[in-house]
Amino acid sequence: MSLYRVVYASQPFGYDDGMLNGILADARRCNVRDDITGALVCRADLYLQWLEGPEPAVRGAFARIARDDRHQDVRHLLSGPVEARLFGAWAMRHDPADSLIWTADEVADGVPEQADEDQIVAIFERIAGVSGPDAATRVSPD
Ligand SMILES: Cc1cc2nc3c(=O)[nH]c(=O)nc-3n(C[C@H](O)[C@H](O)[C@H](O)COP(=O)(O)O)c2cc1C
Repeated sequence: MSLYRVVYASQPFGYDDGMLNGILADARRCNVRDDITGALVCRADLYLQWLEGPEPAVRGAFARIARDDRHQDVRHLLSGPVEARLFGAWAMRHDPADSLIWTADEVADGVPEQADEDQIVAIFERIAGVSGPDAATRVSPD
């Protein structure tokens, strides 16, 4: 089956460890069932989530997520077919946003919505460890 990807940004509504753990538990339970993998960048002012898997399953998950009252202002950033999974080993990888370049002011000013596909993919590739300085040091030179 062909693979599909959706990326969105949203604003947490009541952000604390308990809520985050609940979200991650729901995400992992459903995603194992639905053959979805991905990553969730989490911080007090932003969720940024990458979902990948069979198209109907990813669309269904995104529709449920968009209705969830644990966040608000869900903004769709990217969707479309992909050749391969970036997070094949992760029912939902949790990223505590260390890898994000956006400041709180930039998020408030809507910079995530202005990011182009290459910039968004680069953020998630760095989280997945397939690009960036860490990944570069793992590749042995010829
Ligand atoms: C930020 C955020 C990320 C979520 N990520 C996922 C996810 O990756 N997969 C998923 O199925 N549900 C995810 N959920 C939970 C869904 O909104 C929903 O609670 C869950 O899919 C169960 O759906 P149901 O209550 O209709 O059975 C997420 C919710 C939030 C707020």
